[in-house]
Order: sequence, then structure tokens, then C-alpha cells
Amino acid sequence: MKNIILTGDRPTGQLHIGHFIGSLKNRVLLQNKGDYDKMYIMIADAQALTDNFDNVDKVKDNILQVMLDYLAVGLDPEKVVFFIQSEIPELTEFTFFYMNLVTFARLQRNPTVKAEISQKKFNKNIPMGFLCYPISQTADITAFNANIVPVGVDQLPMIEQAREICRTFNNIYKTDLLIEPQAVIPENKVAQRLPGLDGAEKMSKSLGNCIFLADEPEVVKQKIFSMYTDPNHIKISDPGQTRGNVVFAYLDAFSEKEHFERYLPEYKNLEELKAHYKKGGLGDVKIKTFLNNILQEILKPIREKRKTLEKNPARVFEILFKGSDEAKKDAEQNILKLKQAMGIDYRNNLKNKN
Ligand code: TRP
Repeated sequence: MKNIILTGDRPTGQLHIGHFIGSLKNRVLLQNKGDYDKMYIMIADAQALTDNFDNVDKVKDNILQVMLDYLAVGLDPEKVVFFIQSEIPELTEFTFFYMNLVTFARLQRNPTVKAEISQKKFNKNIPMGFLCYPISQTADITAFNANIVPVGVDQLPMIEQAREICRTFNNIYKTDLLIEPQAVIPENKVAQRLPGLDGAEKMSKSLGNCIFLADEPEVVKQKIFSMYTDPNHIKISDPGQTRGNVVFAYLDAFSEKEHFERYLPEYKNLEELKAHYKKGGLGDVKIKTFLNNILQEILKPIREKRKTLEKNPARVFEILFKGSDEAKKDAEQNILKLKQAMGIDYRNNLKNKN
């Protein structure tokens, strides 16, 4: 079967190294493997508006920021169709038809939605657009027949709900039109959910505990040196904990064998380094310096590419508009197929198109 890959992000802020290790890196790998007919990356401005409808400027400004981050990490407009969600009106048609297939209770049970509702303190005043965004996310995926969706683990409940909607649709309308999408998440456990600099469960802009892809070298260094380690590891000779220690979590996510060869040749690998830390005799400055070397190496080419791209925002928007035109054509075809499967293709538009 041919593969169609689709993924995206809400443009609510610059992307950080949690996005990089949790999803962007996977996307670049998939892009370069070439095992697909088409790969789409969508900037989900309409979804971002579901909880920022009164803050349009924030969403608008971050379309460029997110796109700069995408291109800077090596996502390539020659291989990927980049588009803006609100440029594709067919997505709202898909959403409208799928709304009939999902109950209010099921939406409220969606773990990601549930967590966000309490985090955003909506209490009982939940905007319908927000509650329904998993349905619109299913539209995003199925409007392009995507079967592969590379995302972070926080998105798994969304993909599960999308699969359910596909099944329900196919059952009710006796069709096999909709393909249940498959999530692709990183294999590395820590990479799946990178903790914040402060040891919080998650790196997130709202918690102010991130290293951004665009951060300057000194800022990165200063953030690493402020990282939470083991509060009981006071003297270098003290035995230290590696669990719950943010520096070791990041080393788990980012360090490779060659980093040891380059920056810390007295240790063979991370296991040896951890063993020494646990035993005592290894100080935080040394592990932080090592992590700083690694992250500086990873972030340097990204930052430099971003700086070049930043000089020409018109060119970046050109990529997005060209991609949006192409994505719109594909969604137009697929909404006709959806209507045909439902039996509401009154003008029989598809007669000569298949
Ligand atoms: N919900 C995703 C996020 O919070 C963004 C998104 C919207 C998305 N539609 C999608 C991701 C479709 C994958 C597929 O970043």
C-alpha cells in the first residue's frame, strides 16, 4: 500500500528541543526515507484558535515561527507539502459530517482534552470548538487519506479517536473509504516526553522550562547550568541519583556513542557515566558541560539555518501558500469521495473523475 504521511503543530509558540526529539527528528527521518507517496505538514492555526480565539495575533505570528523551525531542522519543501489549516475550507466539511459520529461524552473522555480542560481552567465553560478539536483533527488526517501520523505521545488519544471515527464512518456508510491512521512515536522512552529544565513532567512553553531551537548559545548554556539534578548530591564525592535527574534524562534522549568519543573519552557510554555518578566522585559541572557540548552541536546548524531563513519571510510564506494550494486540490477530491460514500453526492461529481 502507498503511504501518505501527515502531521502538524499548533502555532502557539516557537518549537523547543522537546518537539525536536519527540517528533521533528522522526519527521526528518521519514522524509528522507522516502517510503511514501506524499508527506504533508500542516500548521494547525484553526485548532490553535480553539483556545486562542481572542488572541489571533499570537497564532498568526507563530505561523512564521513554526515554519522557520520546520525548515531549520531540515524539513524540505521539495519533499513535503507544507500548508496552513485554515486555507483548506474542506476540512470544516469533513468535521461537520464527523460530528454526527461522536458523542459529547466521548469527547469529554478524551484524555488529552480532559487534561487541557483542567489546565486551561475552562471549568464548565468549555467552548464547543475546543471540545470538538479531536473531530477536526480527524478531518485533517482523513482529508488527505493519511495512514501515517508522526506525533508526540501526547497526541496518541487523538489518533485513537480518529481511528474510532474512521471505523464508525465505514460501518455506518458501508464503505472502506477511510483508512485508520497509525501514529509513529519515537522509540526512545525519554524522547517521548522530555522533562522540563526544572524537572517538571513536560517541557512546555507555558511552564517556562524549555530550551528553544532558536535560543542563542549562551542562553542554552545558562539553561543547562540551571537544570535540576539531584538536590542531595552536594559534594562531588557524594553518591548521586540519576533517576529524576534532568541532566541524565537529556543525556538519555540526546547522547550518542560518538559524543562520548568527542567530548568525554574517559567514559565508554552513558551506562558507565551513570554508574560513576551513582557511586560518587562525579560532579554536576562535568555532566552539564558534556550535555552542553552535545546540545550546542545539535542546535548550531539549526540556529544558523533559521537565521538565514528569517531574512526572507516572504519566501517562507510562498512555500506555505503553494503547499496550501496543492493541499486544497487534494482535499477537494477527497471531500467528494466522502460525500459519495455517504450518498450525498447529488451532482454525481465524481462520474468522470475517477
Ligand atoms: N494537535 C496537534 C498539536 O497539538 C496539531 C494537529 C492538528 C495535528 N491536526 C493534526 C497533528 C493532525 C497530527 C495530525 O500539536
